[in-house]
Amino acid sequence: MKDRLEAMVTGLKGALVEERLRADNGAAFVEEQRVKYLGKKGEFSQVMGGVGKLPPEERKAAGELANRIKAELEGLLTKAAAQVDELKLEKELKGPRLDVTLPGRGRPPGRRHPVSQTLEDIVATFGRLGFSVATGPEIELDWYNFEALNVPADHPARDMQDTFYLDGGWLKAAASPVLLRTHTSPVQIRTMLQQPPPVRAVMPGRVYRKDSDVTHTPMFHQVEGLFVDKQVTFAELKGTLDSFAKAFFGSAVQTRFRPSFFPFTEPSAEVDVSCVMCAGKGCRVCKNSGWLEVLGSGMVHPNVFTAAGYDATQVTGFAFGMGVERLAMLRYRIDDLRTMFENDYRFLAQF
Ligand code: DAH
Repeated sequence: MKDRLEAMVTGLKGALVEERLRADNGAAFVEEQRVKYLGKKGEFSQVMGGVGKLPPEERKAAGELANRIKAELEGLLTKAAAQVDELKLEKELKGPRLDVTLPGRGRPPGRRHPVSQTLEDIVATFGRLGFSVATGPEIELDWYNFEALNVPADHPARDMQDTFYLDGGWLKAAASPVLLRTHTSPVQIRTMLQQPPPVRAVMPGRVYRKDSDVTHTPMFHQVEGLFVDKQVTFAELKGTLDSFAKAFFGSAVQTRFRPSFFPFTEPSAEVDVSCVMCAGKGCRVCKNSGWLEVLGSGMVHPNVFTAAGYDATQVTGFAFGMGVERLAMLRYRIDDLRTMFENDYRFLAQF
């Protein structure tokens, strides 16, 4: 046994040569040797397994020897590990030098995307008019997106051509078809189902449509608005949206309400603002009309109140919806929608 223990010391000494320690994986090599000699299944434990078989009078001396050898092996390994560190440092000091006095390369600060800035600004503007914020899911049930909003079964918006429907797996078992919401209007329904009237909230978020050309992207942002109370009138709708337009585009802007149609409002109106590019004189952007369409609105249809669990004989309200990219383009005078989604820093750094 004595010979085998002594041989371990010689063996380890032979392994831990400077050349090996200088190599890139020197530290790993030392660890390997530690496992080989002193690991749980290493040589040392194997030899020590035999101590019990020795006659009792030899055991004490054997134990003492074993302790001395173990300490020696540990000492060699610790020394080798320190040597690895030293050699590494030496190598670094001799290597290429860093000039720490060179000036640093500046990193430009990041910025909010113009769409985010516009969205936050719209929400903040309505916040000052007393509107809180509500949100809903982007993956939505057909019932919230269409049915409860009084959109008839044969309405073109429900067509597979326009709406992204999801299917497969557990979705097949859902109570109504599952889709990517095509507008933020379903959040009106969710909000009313969650709280009794009155409601005064805006609902920002992403929406999806199977549209892709120069002026349409398959994903864009909308801000929805809903105001419900006893005896809310169309005059309040006009006053609220006119205040918003002036706050957002500047006090010189004029608004115009044109009769329109949406299944979820009656009566409905589209809102135009005097052209922010030419101040109403007529230009390419407003197609010489002097006006720009910026949002849809109307008085909430009684069927919508009924679907959302409100008593349509007790409350009235108005709703509106606007496209954030469009408002951002008008506000920052951007003429190509696609620049909004390219994330070219040279574009984004201008806002
Ligand atoms: N949801 C409509 C759209 O995506 C916009 C809209 C129009 C929302 C009128 C409304 C509204 O709340 O009253 O085109």
